[in-house]
Amino acid sequence: MLRSRIIGTGSYAPKRAVTNLDIAKLVETSDEWITTRTGIKERRLADGETVSDMASKAGKAALKAAGVSAKDIDLIVVGTVTPEMNFPSTACFVQAALGAKPGAGAFDVSAACSGFLYALDAADKYLRSGSCKRALVIGVDVFSRLVDWSDRSTCVLFGDGAGAVVLSAEKSSHGVLSSHIHSDGRQWEMLYAAGAVKSNPFEKRQDGPGYLKMNGNETFKIAVRTMGSAITEALEASGLAPGDISLLIPHQANMRIINAISERLKLPEDRVYMNLEKYGNTSAGSIPLALDEAVADGRVEAGDIILFVAFGGGLTWASAAVRW
Ligand code: COA
Repeated sequence: MLRSRIIGTGSYAPKRAVTNLDIAKLVETSDEWITTRTGIKERRLADGETVSDMASKAGKAALKAAGVSAKDIDLIVVGTVTPEMNFPSTACFVQAALGAKPGAGAFDVSAACSGFLYALDAADKYLRSGSCKRALVIGVDVFSRLVDWSDRSTCVLFGDGAGAVVLSAEKSSHGVLSSHIHSDGRQWEMLYAAGAVKSNPFEKRQDGPGYLKMNGNETFKIAVRTMGSAITEALEASGLAPGDISLLIPHQANMRIINAISERLKLPEDRVYMNLEKYGNTSAGSIPLALDEAVADGRVEAGDIILFVAFGGGLTWASAAVRW
């Protein structure tokens, strides 16, 4: 069967590390509050980098790990909600920066923190249909330019980062076994950032402030519920049980959300990957950044079942099961 195999991973996080103590100088908060409520100790914040710089660095690292030339990439899909411009897409900037095959397909996917899994789902379908052979899938966000740095209930949660995978269409029992995307736009007000475009002079319309807004408590509960059901869906579609999961790589939003999901699945700690203490919630960057670190840490071996699950603004949620 034709499957999308992940043949290389890469990531990039800005150098500037901002600790909880640094944030406590900006707003009334403490290391103790942030650590116990979220698990986050520090985050990396962009320091002049553009979102396409970050995406391109992660993409370049993934190509190197895969041993594949950019000229062999015929599709680039980028999950992001913090593009540098309304258009062109970040994927087009990446295509130029990496020197990918001229004429390669390139587009962005907007699904907030579920962006990488939405992008993976789209690319997987192009590869399995035979219309592309090699795809570069990137998740990247720069939420530090979207949060209100005077709002302590949100600014402590997010960081900037990017991650990438190279997918290759191969006749194999390894690769993406199943992937699933979902949304509920009725609940958009749970988590959003308005203000990408401005009103024209002939209309009466309030331009949004652009800052991220969130109902933290409700988002928490919905995230646990939807990610739990998305994991079950991916397992059932792949003929697997929770005990078959070698490593769960969930969206890195909050340690308590991840613990609640793992407890429901009765997954021991060593089968759940967490790196949010170093990066915070990097939105679409979170899962591929965690995957790249897990690979570098030797936590992923051939034949392992890796389960990805995400939740984000939209509302959106998604999952994918992969045999490594
Ligand atoms: N430092 C100190 N106190 C803070 C604070 C901060 N950074 N942020 C909020 N508080 C205060 C609140 O003002 C509130 O004070 P009050 O009781 O005097 O009103 C108190 O802490 C409790 O706030 P609450 O919102 O109930 O805390 P919580 O335990 O729900 O934790 C979140 C808040 C945001 C950490 C939690 O709701 C969460 O993680 N939600 C999911 C968010 C998420 O991951 N979103 C992205 C999904 S992709």
